[in-house]
Amino acid sequence: MVHTSLVFFWVVLLCLCLDFGAAIDTITSSELVKDPQTISSKNGLFTLGFFSPKNSTNRYVGIWYLSESNILWVANRNQPLKFNSSGTVTISRDGNLVVLNRENKTIWSSNATYIASNSTAQLQDTGNLVLQDSNTGEVIWESFKHPTNVYIPNMKLSRNRITGEEVSFTSWKNSSDPSVGYFSCSLERLSAPELFLWVNGTLPYYRSGPWNGEIFIGFRPLTTGYLKGCNVSDEDDGTVYFSCDSTDQYDFRTVALSPEGLFETASWKNKKKISSDVFHGTNCNQYGVCGAFGSCDWQTSPVCSCLSGYQAKNVEEWNRKNWTSGCVRKVPLQCGSEVRKDGFLKLEKMKVPDYLQKSASLENECSAQCLQNCSCVAYAYDTGIGCMSWFGDLIDTQKFSDGGLDLYIRMPPSELDKHSGKRRVIIAAAVSTIGVTTLAICVYLLWKWSAKPTAQPSARGSYLIEFKEDKCMQFYHSRKRKRDVIFWFNRGESTAVDRTGKKIGEQSQVELHEQLLFDTETLALATNNFDSSNKLGQGGFGPVYKGKLKDGREIAVKRLSKASGQGLEEFMNEVVVISKLQHRNLVRLLGCCREGEEKMLIYEYMLNKSLDTFIFGPSEHKLLDWGKRFSIIEGIARGLLYLHRDSRLRIIHRDLKASNILLDEELNPKISDFGLAKIFGGRGDEASTSRVVGTYGYMAPEYAMEGIVSEKSDVFSFGVLVLEIVSGRKNTSFYNNEQFRSLVRFVWKLWNEDNIISAIDQSICDPMHEKDIVRCVHIGLLCVQEGARHRPNMATVISMLNSEIVNLPPPKQPAFIEKPDICKSLSSEERHASHSNNIVSITDIKGR
Ligand SMILES: *[C@@H]1O[C@H](CO)[C@@H](O)[C@H](O)[C@H]1NC(C)=O
Ligand SMILES: *[C@@H]1O[C@H](CO)[C@@H](O)[C@H](O)[C@H]1NC(C)=O
Ligand SMILES: *[C@@H]1O[C@H](CO)[C@@H](O)[C@H](O)[C@H]1NC(C)=O
Ligand SMILES: *[C@@H]1O[C@H](CO)[C@@H](O)[C@H](O)[C@H]1NC(C)=O
Ligand SMILES: *[C@@H]1O[C@H](CO)[C@@H](O)[C@H](O)[C@H]1NC(C)=O
Ligand SMILES: *[C@@H]1O[C@H](CO)[C@@H](O)[C@H](O)[C@H]1NC(C)=O
Ligand SMILES: *[C@@H]1O[C@H](CO)[C@@H](O)[C@H](O)[C@H]1NC(C)=O
Ligand SMILES: *[C@@H]1O[C@H](CO)[C@@H](O)[C@H](O)[C@H]1NC(C)=O
Ligand SMILES: *[C@@H]1O[C@H](CO)[C@@H](O)[C@H](O)[C@H]1NC(C)=O
Ligand SMILES: *[C@@H]1O[C@H](CO)[C@@H](O)[C@H](O)[C@H]1NC(C)=O
Repeated sequence: MVHTSLVFFWVVLLCLCLDFGAAIDTITSSELVKDPQTISSKNGLFTLGFFSPKNSTNRYVGIWYLSESNILWVANRNQPLKFNSSGTVTISRDGNLVVLNRENKTIWSSNATYIASNSTAQLQDTGNLVLQDSNTGEVIWESFKHPTNVYIPNMKLSRNRITGEEVSFTSWKNSSDPSVGYFSCSLERLSAPELFLWVNGTLPYYRSGPWNGEIFIGFRPLTTGYLKGCNVSDEDDGTVYFSCDSTDQYDFRTVALSPEGLFETASWKNKKKISSDVFHGTNCNQYGVCGAFGSCDWQTSPVCSCLSGYQAKNVEEWNRKNWTSGCVRKVPLQCGSEVRKDGFLKLEKMKVPDYLQKSASLENECSAQCLQNCSCVAYAYDTGIGCMSWFGDLIDTQKFSDGGLDLYIRMPPSELDKHSGKRRVIIAAAVSTIGVTTLAICVYLLWKWSAKPTAQPSARGSYLIEFKEDKCMQFYHSRKRKRDVIFWFNRGESTAVDRTGKKIGEQSQVELHEQLLFDTETLALATNNFDSSNKLGQGGFGPVYKGKLKDGREIAVKRLSKASGQGLEEFMNEVVVISKLQHRNLVRLLGCCREGEEKMLIYEYMLNKSLDTFIFGPSEHKLLDWGKRFSIIEGIARGLLYLHRDSRLRIIHRDLKASNILLDEELNPKISDFGLAKIFGGRGDEASTSRVVGTYGYMAPEYAMEGIVSEKSDVFSFGVLVLEIVSGRKNTSFYNNEQFRSLVRFVWKLWNEDNIISAIDQSICDPMHEKDIVRCVHIGLLCVQEGARHRPNMATVISMLNSEIVNLPPPKQPAFIEKPDICKSLSSEERHASHSNNIVSITDIKGR
């Protein structure tokens, strides 16, 4: 008896609950929502109700996620209710969802033409408000098809090929006024769909470039992984749509179009906002900023230039940085001539222009197809899109430093000859110093300009670096003289020419430090033909060999691997970064060699190799007493501070780890491997990158997960390094350890158990230094705190190390960045192999 009644009780309770749950997520003609009532989705995450934006007393009906500060959708955005007019949301007689004011007058309606005698609106667990005919179940209207300014997963941004019907987004007017604003975002160019941002409805403001199956080719600076789970597809009725699923990485994410026309992203995990970001883009983002046949590169100054073979249409305007009239062809095409055919010049890493025409041709047919039609001016090929051709003006072309496509520009034969044999790699940077030793590029040269003092590169100007044929060249723009000077270097000779190739003055007598120029024979001889026994390790872009020159000097030679085809960018990056830096805690570049396919950098040789061989070596670690370890920590900190603050550039290393710290004969640390370093221009403090590169375990959470790079991401890596140096344990050695999974977690646990002594390397545990050692662990923990803004900067770290700052704040919870799931899927043997192989550790998480 008792048993039965208990069951009955539970059944009743369950029914009540279900009933209750079902009731609160729907609106019917009898169950209305009256300000300030709300309804919520079953999962409790989404709420519909009345709200007032900040600094406004107007009332709007909206849907929000978790709290009113995350408004996702607004119904009556253009018809606000006054503050005390107590509105109602209900179903009207014709079955529409309506918002009524105090006088029961309809101020907003879903306006569906479908008439239903009995309909219900339900706020679903996806955040979609769906109006259905209760009798037939047919969907009459849904909020996902009438979005305001926020994209959320499972929504479809769409356009119909036949009817032109679209689902698009429009910004709010300002943060207190949700009415239709100046910017809108829609899907365009349906043959190869692109996202377009429009201003005032009609003017293109930004375009994303075509979708290639994985990404929008020109849509770059958004947080890493933001397009994960997104796709562009077709529906049978001719609708093309862009949609994203939710991913494991986040529970929920949004992209909002701000009143200023910026994309703002946010993501949540476990109901906590874990990140938010604004995509500011670059000067090049504005649609067609450089006019027809112009190309934008935000890293050069000025940002606009004409495509090769073109010149400014109006030179005077162009020089005033008014680029609107664009560029025109210098020499007409030869189209039709059988004798001298047009050809193509390849431009690498480009955001391809607007108005592409797609065809199904294969890659090898694409160029011939373009040549056949006299009005075809360029082509490109992408496996995800196919053959693309352009027929009119080339508009909105942009040069990227990575990613993008190869764009082939049609050229008459005469123009093409000028460019023949030219495979250029250009890296631009700004020279900002006066009177300091100038660094020639691939060669670390000290030199004087004797003939023409006016061309002295010490004046402010900008330069480009190119490798041409077998030579290294420096391109230098003298602002004072308003002209370009090009210096060539080749095996000890140097020539200075102007843009047209005319020699400037007489053959320059440049004093070269011969010993800084290397040729391949010398280097092959020094390294015993790059014998594997001379291999010191693997840098970011290739193997490093030990070498001994004839005069007895020892060197380290880093060789760009020919095989991979990758790494050229890292190589050039390293040249640019390191040739500008000089500090006792940074490794010094001696010279470089470039002959044919070979590209090599020559460094001073470090007798004691890298820090990891020392602190983790079975016997070596005993050689590092506490005093030496402390001075290593201090040295690394000083090197980093120089990179972040004291050098002429602001540089984030991005791959700081024990194997990138070299030790000289006196065990002074030298930071090396700048292949991934990021140079910051201007006043920016942080940037986001779509390409996260670095080493697991050393990467700060905000960088690893969202691609946000700042000084504080290096501080995080520094913190891990400090913990490794003090504990003598490799961060990676914990990956197989079920209990801790990372060094940081291990140290943090012992720290909280007041047992930090157990974390310290036995060989340095000396009661005399205990206080200092614990202080160092404390500083290390401050550096690995989860929130980037809580971490000290390097200047503060140095003050802490020197005890200029006596009282350290207690460390907050660190970030536990653990090896991701790939680990689990590896067998334990593979796992062992992949972890013990500390050298190959550049991990490109986002394979872009
Ligand atoms: C609200 O108004 C105050 C004072 O005018 C202003 O400082 C604040 O930025 C405004 N807030 C928003 C969200 O516009
Ligand atoms: C709303 O409130 C204002 C001031 O509190 C009052 O003057 C006005 O009459 C009210 N409106 C209505 C419709 O009650
Ligand atoms: C509005 O409609 C509600 C419910 O139908 C009714 O109770 C109320 O009196 C109406 N108000 C006015 C001003 O007509
Ligand atoms: C609904 O239709 C009316 C009349 O055509 C129009 O004034 C109103 O703006 C429409 N509402 C919406 C939300 O489209
Ligand atoms: C409307 O539909 C609901 C659910 O199907 C039903 O309970 C209700 O009686 C219907 N109302 C009318 C007026 O038909
Ligand atoms: C927002 O725009 C409205 C008009 O659309 C204006 O009255 C209001 O002052 C603006 N608010 C802010 C914060 O700019
Ligand atoms: C868009 O229109 C508004 C109002 O007419 C104007 O103030 C604004 O400058 C326009 N924006 C652009 C980019 O043309
Ligand atoms: C994306 O959409 C295309 C076209 O509908 C489809 O072939 C492809 O499988 C989809 N990709 C993913 C990852 O869903
Ligand atoms: C730039 O040039 C265009 C075309 O000649 C002209 O219409 C425009 O006013 C110029 N803009 C500025 C800011 O001078
Ligand atoms: C060249 O291509 C354009 C654009 O596709 C087309 O309109 C034109 O007919 C073509 N001309 C020839 C000669 O094929």
